[in-house]
Amino acid sequence: MYSNIENLKKENMNLADKIYIFDTTLRDGEQTPGVALTVDEKIQIAQKLSKIGVDKIEVGFPASSKGEIESAKKIKSLDLDSKIVGLARTVKEDIDAVVDADLEYIHTFIGTSPLHRNFKLKMSKEQVIQRAVEAIDYAKEYGLTVEFSAEDATRTERDFLFKIFNEAIGAGADFLDVPDTVGVLTPVITHEIITDLRNNFKTPISVHFHNDFGLATANTLTAIECGANQAHVTVNGMGERTGNTSLEEIVVTLHAAYGINVNVDTTQLYSLSEFVGRLTGIKMPVNKPIVGANAFAHESGIHVHGILNNSSTYEPISPDLVGHKRKIVLGKHTGANALKSKLKEYNIELNDEQFKRVFNQIKSLGDKGKCITDHDLIAIATIELGSAREKRIELIGLGLASGAVVSPTATVKLKIDGEIKEAASTGVGPVDASINAIRNLIQDSMDVELEEYNIEAITGGTDALAEVFVITSDSKGNKSMGRSTNEDIVMASILAVLDSINKLFLIQNE
Ligand code: KIV
Ligand code: ZN
Repeated sequence: MYSNIENLKKENMNLADKIYIFDTTLRDGEQTPGVALTVDEKIQIAQKLSKIGVDKIEVGFPASSKGEIESAKKIKSLDLDSKIVGLARTVKEDIDAVVDADLEYIHTFIGTSPLHRNFKLKMSKEQVIQRAVEAIDYAKEYGLTVEFSAEDATRTERDFLFKIFNEAIGAGADFLDVPDTVGVLTPVITHEIITDLRNNFKTPISVHFHNDFGLATANTLTAIECGANQAHVTVNGMGERTGNTSLEEIVVTLHAAYGINVNVDTTQLYSLSEFVGRLTGIKMPVNKPIVGANAFAHESGIHVHGILNNSSTYEPISPDLVGHKRKIVLGKHTGANALKSKLKEYNIELNDEQFKRVFNQIKSLGDKGKCITDHDLIAIATIELGSAREKRIELIGLGLASGAVVSPTATVKLKIDGEIKEAASTGVGPVDASINAIRNLIQDSMDVELEEYNIEAITGGTDALAEVFVITSDSKGNKSMGRSTNEDIVMASILAVLDSINKLFLIQNE
């Protein structure tokens, strides 16, 4: 894999010796509007987070409910490898709740910006400092590890931020956290703030960034370049409003673009993302970096050609690195190479003529705006292969009539053993009427019964391609399956039935 690491001037950075991953999926992630996890779900996610190797898991806000204390306590009792953290405001009751949950690591916060001091807390700077110091003292009396957050730090006057951090260190804070509470940072400003803090404080620095401007990952990486020791992250970037820095983006970018390996097993990232998406009901957009369905999907002929020769041509990392899968998607941009590779993947061998027909069918479906899944391709190619067999019956024409008064009527014209025959029949619907007409036309040769009928829309939209599977039987108990795809449901049904009847004839002759 070629990466950009060679161009990275690490000597110009102030990288910490070790970067800690602090996951807050179960706390800030759960603050995603509409998300509420049960105790059991929190336990399952915590187990997976620990297994993947995150250093710390913020499991919730114990003071907020009995359920939060219960889940925190249960997770702590599992004795996971990750450190278990509880959130608390800088008030005794919140700190007590963290202690009640048997946790040994507290993340305590108070708003420090003028907006928070004046409009939320209605406290002076001195009062805010006093509250923070008292809380840290109190938590330290319990022997807790204390991470102190200056909420809305990035909109706090710099001298006041320095002051409160100094006091927090004096009271025994083990980590200083810099929350970008409403996600207003840019990489340049992050560089300036974190460098300033790093140059003035020896205490480990943690960063907790929100993604309101889509910059959380970029800002977190910049903070790490400037000496931050710890990144707060969430799986899938879940969190308040537009979310937090995403775990997968940070871990993979550190590995692939910086050559920095944190403790996390990257190969489990995709399955973790899927798992959390399922439990929270928050599905990732297809274009989400690292874990989105399209992260390793390729459609255009030029890209697929490159990928097939060397996957690095159009992929910055291998999907294996994160436990994802490469996907060659067929559609209007598909080239012959992509189709050949797909057919090979499914061991489908077509001759040149058949290949051309399948290729043209895919292109024309693509031109109609459809995206062809593997399932669609298998159906199309199988039907193409099936059509090479000798057919005793072929559809020549079809006429349909229906209305409010008359029963649906179908007039079907078939070529049976070279002879053209036509019959009309009624039924409960056009499909039923057509099948009745077919049965009438072939009754001299075969008494056919429709045993099963299944229809599926295999591409989305009202003009979806319909795939019909049928099973028919003859009077001797022979059964055969027929299948067809067509944009017209009635046509797909008739062709599937005829496919199945042709197979029954073959079986009878065996
Ligand atoms: O975004 C934020 O400021 C927070 C605090 C609780 C640290 O989540
Ligand atoms: Zn937050």
